[in-house]
Amino acid sequence: MELVLVSFIVVLLLLFCALFVFSLVIFAVHHKTGGALFVPTPRVMVKKIVDSIDFSSFRDIRELGSGDGRFMTALERRYGRPVTGYEVNPIAYGLCLFKIGLWRLKSRVFYRSFWEEDLAGADCTFCYLFPDIMPRLGEKLEGELGKGALVISANFPFPGWKPESVLACRDTIFNDPIYLYRMGAHRG
Ligand SMILES: C[S@@+](CC[C@H](N)C(=O)[O-])C[C@H]1O[C@@H](n2cnc3c(N)ncnc32)[C@H](O)[C@@H]1O
Repeated sequence: MELVLVSFIVVLLLLFCALFVFSLVIFAVHHKTGGALFVPTPRVMVKKIVDSIDFSSFRDIRELGSGDGRFMTALERRYGRPVTGYEVNPIAYGLCLFKIGLWRLKSRVFYRSFWEEDLAGADCTFCYLFPDIMPRLGEKLEGELGKGALVISANFPFPGWKPESVLACRDTIFNDPIYLYRMGAHRG
């Protein structure tokens, strides 16, 4: 009985420590994320995106805030196209690196803020971020992406932009929308 109690307390302590470290990390990177926390895209949404869009013709795909790498790894495993990701949360970055190594993929993830990256060469970008930063990100993408580039945003639209189409993921609790924009036609 005593052993059960001690084990229970140890597990609780470990959980508490993990939560504490996770909160510290989130706090430490807040100035870069602007509130876009490490919340992985639900797997059904990732599946919906890779099932609905043919990624085989894109030359330069970027993921802005790649989290644990579930989108980029699913995409490369399906289409053989590598993705370049950016991530500032060290836990998410480590998980992403681990997955890329595990499946021996060509995708890369940089421990860097995407705000500091020039996205000019990209013909496709994917993000799942936070409403507060969408206006600023929209300005960045308008300034850097070329005409015809595909912009995919899970859950959060770019204010003032007109989507080419919206995928509905009916298998998630909130029927999360996935917005697809075509640069050049995104202002209607
Ligand atoms: C909601 S999560 C989505 C993760 C992943 N894209 C997915 O679909 O599972 C947003 C991620 O973006 C990262 N992030 C936010 N701002 C960033 C920035 N400026 N540079 C790099 N990563 C950023 C966060 O750390 C977080 O892991």
